[in-house]
Amino acid sequence: MNDLFSPYRIKELELKNRIVMPPMCQYSVEAEDGIPTNWHQQHYVSRAVGGTGLIIVEMTDVEPDGRISNRDLGLWSDDQIGAFSNIVKEVHQYGAKVGIQLAHAGRKAEDAETPVAPSAIAFDETFKTPRALETEEVKEMVDKFRASARRAVQAGFDVIELHGAHGYLIHQFTSPLTNKRDDEYGRDLTKFGVEVIKAVKSEMPADMPLIMRISAKEYVEGGYGIEESIAFSQVFKEAGVDMFHVSSGGEGPIGGDGRPGTHASYQTPLAREIKKALDIPVIAVGRLDDPILANSIIGNDEADLVAVGRGMLRNPYWALEASKALNKKTEIPKQYQLGFKH
Ligand SMILES: Cc1cc2nc3c(=O)[nH]c(=O)nc-3n(C[C@H](O)[C@H](O)[C@H](O)COP(=O)(O)O)c2cc1C
Repeated sequence: MNDLFSPYRIKELELKNRIVMPPMCQYSVEAEDGIPTNWHQQHYVSRAVGGTGLIIVEMTDVEPDGRISNRDLGLWSDDQIGAFSNIVKEVHQYGAKVGIQLAHAGRKAEDAETPVAPSAIAFDETFKTPRALETEEVKEMVDKFRASARRAVQAGFDVIELHGAHGYLIHQFTSPLTNKRDDEYGRDLTKFGVEVIKAVKSEMPADMPLIMRISAKEYVEGGYGIEESIAFSQVFKEAGVDMFHVSSGGEGPIGGDGRPGTHASYQTPLAREIKKALDIPVIAVGRLDDPILANSIIGNDEADLVAVGRGMLRNPYWALEASKALNKKTEIPKQYQLGFKH
């Protein structure tokens, strides 16, 4: 039976354990022009020292106006590759693998003068009303994802994750609430996502897996549920997704009865459903900071990997501590071994 410290392999990506640091924007004040800073270097490398199997670098945008805020990272220029490459090299030193989440915030790009989206519908009254992309611009956007993927591969990342969740651009195209287009990208709500998947894959080595993060359930009034997300995920799987990272929500103001759970493991049932329905590996995420709980998700075969977000903001050594709590063997950096002796 597998546990949190069983190795895992998908295509050529080999992980020493099942523990993932999910993407988390740092909104670092010193970040300029989308380039990672010394903060990012320390932040990611310390989680590698802390025993994490896979680190996924935060939402990194394919154009400047694709950022949530101007403090976010980007890969829209070759000038940005070097700083990411330094993070990759250093993370590898400590036995972790590292991915990057490629994204565009669409109508949730807060610092863009006029954000772009599938349709001119604002997130809510506090957000700017976006401009609907022309059909030609949608095709150009696919190419921006393609170019960023090429740069991510050049930087040495082991895996790419597409941000198809939380109400950002790909999700905006997939959701009937935000995509009211009457062109080809509106008649087929999965078309944009499918083209992005294929474009990104065309830049990736054949043995490198592609992860896609999805919101498997929406919380706005009239939002979609698990049935619909199974259906669109099937299409994304056929287009080339190798693994889903199953999250939820983020698409708009939360409806009266749609309040997301804030209890432990609240999104795991969604991950389990996607895994079962599509017969595809999944990452579970959402309040899984208790090592016993995280371990049970792997042992019970509910997910293949477990991501711990806020828990790792509090403790970069979450994985090392989990190995101690679960009495599992893992490699502890020589310098820290005395800290883990019984
Ligand atoms: C500070 C912060 C930044 C985040 N940024 C991102 C992001 O860039 N991309 C993303 O998909 N999710 C982002 N998230 C969501 C996390 O990846 C994760 O799904 C969420 O925190 C739930 O997991 P947890 O309960 O283990 O924290 C962010 C969360 C936090 C707390």
